[in-house]
Amino acid sequence: MPGGLSKLSIPALACALVTGCAALNNGAGLEPDPENLAYGRALYTENCAVCHGAKADGLGPHAANLDRPPPNLTLLAARNNGTFDQDYVMSTIFASPSEEIGPMPAFAHRDLGPLIVVERDGLGTPVFTDLLAIANYLESLQVPPAGES
Ligand code: HEC
Repeated sequence: MPGGLSKLSIPALACALVTGCAALNNGAGLEPDPENLAYGRALYTENCAVCHGAKADGLGPHAANLDRPPPNLTLLAARNNGTFDQDYVMSTIFASPSEEIGPMPAFAHRDLGPLIVVERDGLGTPVFTDLLAIANYLESLQVPPAGES
């Protein structure tokens, strides 16, 4: 894997264990710095764009072959009262929303990168770096609902 995140994960883990680290205490996990976003984008392009589209608008080249349309992933926050639910996104990627019947593959069985500990409601919670990187990238793409700006 690209070196960026593996370099990040060790200080992030140490940071989480010591507590009080600003980067990990915002409830959102690893800060989405440019390196993390670029890594998330690469993962997205490789694993998700074929269905969800290069711009995450749901218009990937494989979308027309699917019984269920891949959702527009730039509207996740808009469809959730303006809140991007990072945990929902990570768990959806990990185990697909309708694993038995849905066309979206679960990513639980691939290498998801090292675990880091992020804070969730005051608890140190282990999260795979690749899931967090993809979620951070998708969060950066969120657009307001039509009519707002
Ligand atoms: C084979 C096509 C396909 C691939 C590849 C794929 N998805 Fe999906 N995805 C879907 C479909 C179709 C759905 C709608 C739910 C269902 O029926 O399974 C979905 C649902 C989702 C949802 C839930 C959206 C909502 O509104 O609740 C998220 C988040 C998501 N995908 C993210 C991703 C990410 C991130 C990747 C890459 C790691 C990915 N998907 C790869 C087809 C795909």
